[in-house]
Amino acid sequence: MPTILLATEKPFAAAAVNGIKKIFDEAGFETVLLEKYTDKNDLLKAVADVDGMIIRSDKASAEVIAAAQNLKIVVRAGAGYDNIDLPACNEKKIVAMNTPGQNSNAVAELGMGMMIYAARNFFNPGTGSELAGKKMGLFAFGNVGRKVAKLAKGLGMIVYVYAPTKEKTWLEGFGTIVVSSPEELFSTCNYISLHIPANEKTKKSINYDLLSKLPKGAVIVNTARKEIVCEDSLKRVFEERSDIKYVTDIACDSHAEMMEKYASRYFATPKKMGAETSEANINAGLAAAKQIVDFLKNGNTQFQVNKF
Ligand code: 3PG
Repeated sequence: MPTILLATEKPFAAAAVNGIKKIFDEAGFETVLLEKYTDKNDLLKAVADVDGMIIRSDKASAEVIAAAQNLKIVVRAGAGYDNIDLPACNEKKIVAMNTPGQNSNAVAELGMGMMIYAARNFFNPGTGSELAGKKMGLFAFGNVGRKVAKLAKGLGMIVYVYAPTKEKTWLEGFGTIVVSSPEELFSTCNYISLHIPANEKTKKSINYDLLSKLPKGAVIVNTARKEIVCEDSLKRVFEERSDIKYVTDIACDSHAEMMEKYASRYFATPKKMGAETSEANINAGLAAAKQIVDFLKNGNTQFQVNKF
């Protein structure tokens, strides 16, 4: 009987956990639950004998992959898989997957909420501003970006997009204005919403050159990954300009310093909250469980993100 580990330092809603267990029960698989662990050794122990594993932002590091004697598949219940060591998986021919789109609505809604929070001066007394009529700039146009575009248009915003891997006419079909460079996006838009993954190309790519081009009073919204923003550049721009705001679902490494100096312009959620809805937990968790069953029973690799 295959054994599947559900390793979530940040646990899923109970309904999602029950749904995952039901899928594995019906498939004749055993579920092992490791939630809210604080010690990496607990994960190393739990992964030792399992055939499959579901994770969220939990780190499937080279050490974790090395500790797994029988692992055949790891599924990141979510979009970004920068927490999985793919070369380590490749070496052991372990299939890595994500569940694209399953939690994107939750992330998009949080992004809009953070934008409103910024527009209203973090709910401090004083006059804020409205989103209607403002220019929204989407950096990339995947599942989350598309949903943010729809919500922003619903609020009467003018939506710009920079997404070089996508067809211009396809992007325009969503009622967006397509720009041809990140510089154009940053110099044009009042709100920038980041939707790029964290990888070797994108890390620290939101740099001084881009940030310094922002129009007066601009807001950067980050529901993607902290690594894509160059913190030194962000700090430099914050120091030089008192009109820029940064709202993020992933606290800066220098969070304490940012809070101390810029509490009226910097906001970070206490813990990554984008996918923290029961709907997103259920969608992503159940999709991950189904993908594992379909892979182990039928060899379906539709959502595989690594190649070996
Ligand atoms: C994702 O990549 O899907 C999101 O960042 C959500 O991450 P989480 O499951 O750790 O909340």
